[in-house]
Amino acid sequence: MSCQPIPNKIRLGVNVDHVATLRQARYREMLNHPNAEPCPIQAAREAESAGASGITAHLRSDRRHMQDADLFALRKAVRTKLNLEMGLTEEILQFALTLLPDDVCIVPENRNEVTTEGGLDCIASQSLLRAAIPQLRKAGIHVSLFIDPIPDQIRAAADLGAEFIELHTGCYANATDPNEKSAELQRLYEAAKLAQNYGLRINAGHGLNYQNVAPICKIPGIEELNIGHSIVSRAIFIGMADAVRQMLDIIHSAS
Ligand code: PXP
Repeated sequence: MSCQPIPNKIRLGVNVDHVATLRQARYREMLNHPNAEPCPIQAAREAESAGASGITAHLRSDRRHMQDADLFALRKAVRTKLNLEMGLTEEILQFALTLLPDDVCIVPENRNEVTTEGGLDCIASQSLLRAAIPQLRKAGIHVSLFIDPIPDQIRAAADLGAEFIELHTGCYANATDPNEKSAELQRLYEAAKLAQNYGLRINAGHGLNYQNVAPICKIPGIEELNIGHSIVSRAIFIGMADAVRQMLDIIHSAS
């Protein structure tokens, strides 16, 4: 039985990339073998049954975790909404236009990074974005741009016709000094306010966990959080459904 999201509460999109990371660690060369586990589709089903409002997956150019077949299987299995995180290359753009996820979140992608390292530079990439966004929107896909909480980036995202931004919370999440953390939180508040003034809808994510998510939920205007690593990490010990429920309890109490 699937749980309905609570109205007016921040929604949770669960990123299941790292379920595939674990599978690839052992079965990269044997993906069709019956032993190839764990299954990201099963993780998505369990996350949805525990109340997730969406499933997020990043198809990277190097296919280090999610594979094309995973995305097609998710497209069929996901009952809430599927958010494809993608770097802006022609190959992945064409993939998105074939897959037809509900949402895409465009991220910068660098082969040598461990994970997405920072927000997109919407100013430097404006000609690519200006060409891609209308194609995605014409296909009925909601487009979000993953950006740092920087005023010029917010203005550029609005100018490019994005419907959503996803505010990069990585600097906030990684800050260990309390003053630095509160300064990063303040940047996120100001960015969200500016984005609302430009009519942008706002998601947020990266590096959020059970300890640091609550203050982010208090930022006015944030509609959805995309969280992966911490939920998948907790799921190893208590299972995906309980890991999602525990995250939702914190988000719902704080928002
Ligand atoms: N949002 C975006 C745009 C991301 O690139 C990622 C990482 O894939 C996330 C959210 C989730 O980050 P984390 O795994 O740190 O929760």
